[in-house]
Amino acid sequence: MKGVVLAGGLGTRLLPLTRVTNKHLLPVYNKPMIFYPIQTLVDAGIKDIMIVTGGNNAGDFLRLLGNGEDFGLRQLHYTYQKTEGGIAHALALAEPFVGKDKVVVILGDNFTQSSIKKAVDDFEKQPCGAKIFLKEVSNPQEFGVAVVEGGKVKEIIEKPTVPPTNYAVIGIYMYDRDVFEICKGLKPSARGELEITDVNNEYIQRGTMTYEFLEGWWADCGSFEALLRSNILVAREKGVQI
Ligand code: DAU
Repeated sequence: MKGVVLAGGLGTRLLPLTRVTNKHLLPVYNKPMIFYPIQTLVDAGIKDIMIVTGGNNAGDFLRLLGNGEDFGLRQLHYTYQKTEGGIAHALALAEPFVGKDKVVVILGDNFTQSSIKKAVDDFEKQPCGAKIFLKEVSNPQEFGVAVVEGGKVKEIIEKPTVPPTNYAVIGIYMYDRDVFEICKGLKPSARGELEITDVNNEYIQRGTMTYEFLEGWWADCGSFEALLRSNILVAREKGVQI
């Protein structure tokens, strides 16, 4: 099982914080944001990891992370996204690294309180397809939202104005080798991006998508409120009184 951390994009929702640095290098309590999704993968037993980044600060990732010594890794792999073509565009760049293996993809601004190891182990045994995590939230319109019926995900709608459920699709996705062929068939969305939700809907159509509800909290750092909340969650986890 390979791991891919997606840390490209412009982080425009966090301007001016992201004017001179990459979003994923901003602090979350006492570490740069990117440390947390890497740790989520490492805690799930994934040791073969690629970072996809872009923009003017790509070199800073190498200086910060090196070969992954902070995580007990022997090596980290890197690739560069030249344009902000979307999450699925960033993932497609990892194809030569992932090859025919399965892959766990994590957004560089997402991480979890609890280990995802059991779900990753379950997916290792799943013959084919994909697996996602859902989390009940109070602001589903800010996420991909899942329609669940009869124990199956029927559809995912990206940032719906009128959310059909409160089930957000969190930014950790598990895929088999078909994901790269699916990425190649995508068309840009209205916002001009290759959407990970379109990838997930294709697996749903094929009938090979599984899901589970995530236990514990989940942090997403894409907006000022979410970044502040993530800082507080991590600080409290470390026993800081806030
Ligand atoms: O946080 C979970 C949500 O993440 C999901 O519920 C949504 O379905 C999914 O589309 C995504 O929504 P966001 O609007 O929050 O995604 P954002 O554009 O902020 O990108 C998330 C991460 O993906 C970002 O931190 C880095 C990576 N990324 C994004 C883009 C657009 C790239 O590596 N390259 C890109 O071109």
